[in-house]
Amino acid sequence: MSASREVINYLGRDVTDKLPAAEQVPGAMALTPRDAAIWELAKDYLKTRDNDAHCLYAYGIANALLSQIPEAQENIVLPAILIHDIGWSTVDERENLEAIAPDRDGSRAHLVVQHEKEGAKIARRILGEVGIPVADIDEICAIIDGHDTRPEPISLNDALVKDADKIWRVSPHGRSVVNDWFGLTDEQSLRLCAYRAYNELFTDAGRAMSRVLVSLAYIDQTPQISKTYRPKA
Ligand SMILES: [Fe+2]
Ligand SMILES: [Fe+2]
Repeated sequence: MSASREVINYLGRDVTDKLPAAEQVPGAMALTPRDAAIWELAKDYLKTRDNDAHCLYAYGIANALLSQIPEAQENIVLPAILIHDIGWSTVDERENLEAIAPDRDGSRAHLVVQHEKEGAKIARRILGEVGIPVADIDEICAIIDGHDTRPEPISLNDALVKDADKIWRVSPHGRSVVNDWFGLTDEQSLRLCAYRAYNELFTDAGRAMSRVLVSLAYIDQTPQISKTYRPKA
């Protein structure tokens, strides 16, 4: 969140000209011009169930994974993660939650497949419109088609997309969204999310990222932290 807050200066003098330049910061990022163009065409399909923010945060996670796994290809991984859930726009929002609820009975499993298949179709059109090379479109759409139901990745690029999608669950945004979906406390949503965001990951870098996020979330729940640090509003 980038909400502005009142600046307090305990030191009492201006040190801002000593800060590193934005481009020197490891990990500083934004959508590439290519991906910003894809986003413009995709965002209206991602309005259901917070999927727009989910995809943006997962894009950030994928970008961090790419920094640790240079053999993967950013031209495939980043567009794929950015629009992977675009197909939920073809599923009724209520049904959409039923399909992923912890007590789902399997009767809506076809809707999960639908969001993958329809998502691949919409993605193909959008990526074509942006001018992505056909070979890349084929690979990105193959990743999107089956991204949730396919148990094993078809490639390293797919493994990064799968990991970024799952690691999001233990991010602050992921956990808060899951609270509201299912009426869970912070502790309950963390328990629900953390299991899959570790045991089902495919990369060492992804597992390390997930562990850090989970550890921080559990520290937030300790009685000790509640007596010390308070996040500023
Ligand atoms: Fe999905
Ligand atoms: Fe997703």
